[in-house]
Amino acid sequence: MRDQFYVIGQPIGHSMSPTMHNEWFRENQIHGHYAAKEVGISDLESIVTEFRSTVNGFNVTAPLKVEVMKYLDDIDPLAKEIGAVNTVINKDGRLYGKNTDGIGYCRGLSLVLKSPIEQESILIIGAGGAARAILCSLLHLGVKHITITNRTTEKALELKNGLLLKDQEVKVISITEAEQQLGAYSLVIQTTSVGMKPNEAEKPMSLYNLSPDTVVSDLIYSPYKTAFLKEAEQKNAKIQNGLPMFIYQGALAFQEWTGIFPNTIDAYKLLEEKLGGTKC
Ligand code: ATR
Repeated sequence: MRDQFYVIGQPIGHSMSPTMHNEWFRENQIHGHYAAKEVGISDLESIVTEFRSTVNGFNVTAPLKVEVMKYLDDIDPLAKEIGAVNTVINKDGRLYGKNTDGIGYCRGLSLVLKSPIEQESILIIGAGGAARAILCSLLHLGVKHITITNRTTEKALELKNGLLLKDQEVKVISITEAEQQLGAYSLVIQTTSVGMKPNEAEKPMSLYNLSPDTVVSDLIYSPYKTAFLKEAEQKNAKIQNGLPMFIYQGALAFQEWTGIFPNTIDAYKLLEEKLGGTKC
């Protein structure tokens, strides 16, 4: 019998995960199959119960990443800290939840950073679930100083106050302050939905004061290059869209299930072609 895997969420029709994982199964000669299944909050408990005896693992996407946690048997400490699970491993009927989003993002970032991530001075734009996954993962990797900016400052303060900090500092500043102090950061991470299709002209803040030495990363990959990344490119900064994060979160999930870290370079080419973009 072949190994069965899923990604569940709503909407799920446009997910690129099946293309990517099925290609990895083929490349690694594993008799596995990965499919997308439309699941809403109201169906989640019954689907998870069914999956316990029918699948080897599954990915979880919006809007289920928080809700799914209550139906699992064990949860990895980093996923607990993030408060969300995107990868579930079925170990003989026991369901173990992990979060590969933030660490996947950091793995993807290493493609564009010149120095180790701990040495970067980082500005995160946004204070939602994606920002939280990245923030917790950066802290987990030992980054010492991070600044958050968000349209709603109270939400950024709430996010900061819920973090487990060791010898680390997290600051919150307004969007206006971030625009003025942009030169102080070597890495800017855009985690909001601003600029996503169909609102492609929107930007979360101005990059007027951006230095060409700053790396600018946007989690969005549809459009392939947001207005925010285009502005960064005009300032001669190095840019990265959300595709590497998508590929590396998937690669880490694949590794959890099979023990094999798959070929991310060919996956990049495959999905880049599917999205109709060129490397950025
Ligand atoms: P996700 O889980 O994808 O991160 P989320 O938890 O809903 O999504 O968070 C959305 C983030 O995008 C928030 O930081 C939100 O800002 P607010 O806290 O002020 O709501 C930000 N965001 C969404 N739409 C925005 C807009 N039009 N302008 C600025 N920020 C926006």
